[in-house]
Amino acid sequence: MCGIVGYIGYEQAAPFLLSGLEKLEYRGYDSAGICLNDGKELIVKKTKGKLLELKKLTNNGADINGTVGIGHTRWATHGEPSDVNAHPHLSDSCRFAVVHNGIIENYLQLKDYLISKGMTFRSKTDTEVIAQLIEFYYDGDLVDTVIKVLGKLDGSYALGVISRDCPDEIIAVRKESPLIIGLGENENYIASDVPAILAKTRNIYRLENNEIAILRRDGVKIINTDREDVVKKIETINWDIDAAEKGGYEHFMFKEIMEQPKAIHDTVAPRIKNGRVVLDEINLTPEQFKGFNKINILACGSAYHVGVVAKYVFEKYLRIPVEADLASEFRYRDPIVNEKTLTIVISQSGETADTKEAMKEAKRRGSHVISIVNVVGSAIACESDDVIYTWAGPEIAVATTKAYSTQLAVVYLMAIYFGDILGTVKKDQYDELVSELLSLPEKIKTVLANEEKVQYLASKLFNCMDVFFIGRNIDYALSLEGSLKLKEISYIHSEAYAAGELKHGTISLIEDGTLVIALATHEPLIAKTISNMEEVRTRGANVLCLACEDHKEIESVAQNTIFIPKCCDMMLPSLAVVPLQLFAYYVASLKGCDIDKPRNLAKSVTVE
Ligand code: G6P
Repeated sequence: MCGIVGYIGYEQAAPFLLSGLEKLEYRGYDSAGICLNDGKELIVKKTKGKLLELKKLTNNGADINGTVGIGHTRWATHGEPSDVNAHPHLSDSCRFAVVHNGIIENYLQLKDYLISKGMTFRSKTDTEVIAQLIEFYYDGDLVDTVIKVLGKLDGSYALGVISRDCPDEIIAVRKESPLIIGLGENENYIASDVPAILAKTRNIYRLENNEIAILRRDGVKIINTDREDVVKKIETINWDIDAAEKGGYEHFMFKEIMEQPKAIHDTVAPRIKNGRVVLDEINLTPEQFKGFNKINILACGSAYHVGVVAKYVFEKYLRIPVEADLASEFRYRDPIVNEKTLTIVISQSGETADTKEAMKEAKRRGSHVISIVNVVGSAIACESDDVIYTWAGPEIAVATTKAYSTQLAVVYLMAIYFGDILGTVKKDQYDELVSELLSLPEKIKTVLANEEKVQYLASKLFNCMDVFFIGRNIDYALSLEGSLKLKEISYIHSEAYAAGELKHGTISLIEDGTLVIALATHEPLIAKTISNMEEVRTRGANVLCLACEDHKEIESVAQNTIFIPKCCDMMLPSLAVVPLQLFAYYVASLKGCDIDKPRNLAKSVTVE
């Protein structure tokens, strides 16, 4: 949620700030701005709209001079998207400028106080109070002043601060919201995420909570809020730079859909040695694991949908009760969780505010937390007891695809691994599951090879107004994701229903031509799902059915069908989700939607 960049060096700062922001637009894109110190004063250019507008406004950065600056791309929380609410924010006398990612919870009290002292505010943002507080408390030492101001702030923040009078310095601070420092030759950078600086350097520091970085051209010093030096290890990023680029594809989403076989292979293969699942990263002993009487899964959005699949998978293979909980609900419902509960937290970014806080709540109640996370070194990864990384690589499109798929793969690995410990997965089944899991990447490639059929169906159906996704058991879990994918990028109203539940009210919405996407991959319940398809077809629905290739009889029940290869029941979501992602993608494309940056959304949701 919101992206921050900063540059200090000997080159012009604006081109880097703009290219860095471009890599961070997935974090928010309703307005953008940059501020540079031109040696005399702070020059701010900011505007509502996507980064393209800012590029036009600044003539691609050529119109704004300075070798030190900060930039921001925004996902609005306080104050509507507008030029004035866009960051950077200046203090009253334009002496200090601030970019911020996060939320200042006590900003209204602070604002009232500053107004009572005669300061005037331009925007409706919480961020502006930070710039004003720095001006209000400034004592000639910017670092001291920033530390003093931090003591006044409640909430979460990553900050970049520059001053008119200190053209040789950027101050950066992190509390809860992520921030990295890029280390170059005679130039240094700040950024919310690695892709922003990857073209410049691979050496970074990851700031921890309450650390302050003082960036100069020739070096970076990290201190804590007591002004003591903090010694940090330099981390070297070894991603292939192409991983964060579109690589010839029109959209990141399509590229990421196509990367799924590799992402799953990278996540699974290193963890299978001599036919055995090895989860070295888990510190729990088998005895400790046997002591759990419940599994609690916490996540938001698509990661929550993985949790719903996991409920079916774990209950089948581990025979332990499983609850999949929306993190935002779990936090505030006095849950029954204790040291006998294993908590599994799922998050691509590792920084989703609700998921992080729900995890803390589970820990407070004595639960052991294993997280499944994609972003290495993120808050959830660091704060959980154990972390299993999904090796999906950077995911840039707001609508998740490869992260979802790798999270599913980790769920299967865990089911096999823990099922063996508990004795609920026997030798033959163990070997079969391992072999099915290893074959998923190849099977997904065959599903991807059928993309033209999905594109054709999208061209026939993209004008629909309402869509109902139905399925039973694990197909129901998958329908939640299929429905979300479609609505989030194409803006078509869609809902997911357990197929057997539709008749309890919702079927009244089915009329001539309503599109029903029926998922019928779960072998034991296909006959039941077919009956539900008949029920909606009788009432006029246009049924598109997704089934396994050995069920050709389904062609007589649905107007359109998509077939996927057969695999073990519980892993079918990994194959079946792919046509649903492609369908959403092609529908959104035909409707001319901004696929990688859907309206109102952001990839990383660091507010409640
Ligand atoms: C946002 C994204 C979703 C994602 C959810 C949870 O809403 O748009 O794609 O599933 O956050 O994010 P996380 O990073 O915790 O998986």
